Amino acid sequence: MKFTKRDRLKLLLGAGGLALTGCSGGGAGTPTPSPAPTPTPTPTPTPPPTPTPTPVSAIKDVFAASFPIGAAVGLTELDAASEDRALVEAQFSSLVAENIMKPSSLAPSAGNYDFTAADQIVDFAEANSMAVRGHTLLWHRQTPDYFFEGQPNEVRSRLEDYIDTVAGRYAGRIGAWDVVNEVISDAGGGTAPYRDSNWLNAAGGSDYIEWAFRAARAADPNAKLFINDYNTELSGKRGRLLDVVRDLLDRGVPLDGVGHQFHINLSTTAEQVLDALQAVEDLGAGLENHVTELDISVYKDPVECFSDALNCEPDYGNALPTEVEREQAELYRALFDGFQDFDSLTSVTFWGVSDAQSWLNGYPVDRTNYPLLFDRNRAAKPAFFAVTDPTYAIP
Ligand code: XIL
Repeated sequence: MKFTKRDRLKLLLGAGGLALTGCSGGGAGTPTPSPAPTPTPTPTPTPPPTPTPTPVSAIKDVFAASFPIGAAVGLTELDAASEDRALVEAQFSSLVAENIMKPSSLAPSAGNYDFTAADQIVDFAEANSMAVRGHTLLWHRQTPDYFFEGQPNEVRSRLEDYIDTVAGRYAGRIGAWDVVNEVISDAGGGTAPYRDSNWLNAAGGSDYIEWAFRAARAADPNAKLFINDYNTELSGKRGRLLDVVRDLLDRGVPLDGVGHQFHINLSTTAEQVLDALQAVEDLGAGLENHVTELDISVYKDPVECFSDALNCEPDYGNALPTEVEREQAELYRALFDGFQDFDSLTSVTFWGVSDAQSWLNGYPVDRTNYPLLFDRNRAAKPAFFAVTDPTYAIP
């Protein structure tokens, strides 16, 4: 294994690593006079400690010198009664709304905004000194139909009003916005490099991307503005994305970075993922990289599983094979070892908190998935230890 920045940090902090936050222990209280000794009953034997390993470090602390570690959440995960909330508070230093900052949540009908849930996420993050990523101002999904009605000039002014209202409301509180999400085509030909979408059709071309970025910069001059997409680990999709990025920069469109979703699976190599970060650095434009939606599905599905739910891998149910869990831990370790070599990488976000509530239990088909660092009992998985402790031997 390489000697990474993280290893150096650990050495600096001492062999014990970082202290467990919220660790209970015998605190010293005010001394009280001891009462007269009374006969004590025979002590009952203490049960042996449970074998489940306890995280000794918070992942956010391990990588604090490199980048914040984020999680996608909804209000359920932040509820006081939720098992996820303690994990969110202990482990993460950044939040993104999994759904509730999308246009269908914020502006379900024309001119009617509802910021109740989004405000709660931002308030929670601030109360816990966490960063917030905004996701997303423009997407072809989870966006009400009225956004696409009328002539291109009406579509434009409606989009600009929306971005002005939303990005303006959170100006100074949301550090980075996914301004446009998934605007790149999955293949060449046709409208490539642009996705053939409701946005492309309603705007009469790809100018809507520029409209969105300019409106976002005007609404919040200090937020970092990102173009976000999936499959950037694949060279074809990445090439089209970078063509669009170059064109935007050439035209002076305000763009600060590239968001890589990285919804990957066990067929993906760490090299493919790191190549995507390198390609953005190689543009030489000083752009930032954000990993925005990281998860590793344990199913190596073919493309037709995503398009037509065909030939999807069979469900492991509750019996994930140990070797699959090991493969996942190894891939996660290789990713984070590599991530630390990129100064341009300024945020890493997981798409969820624990395997229990991951979207991949329902996408592309209903199936038990295990894509994150914490299991269904919210216990740290081998992948967690592989990432946070370079001395951990993956079982
Ligand atoms: C997903 C959410 O996780 C689901 O709960 C929702 O039903 C659909 O959207 N790329 C994105 C995210 O940019 O917004 C998507 O989130 C996952 C894929």
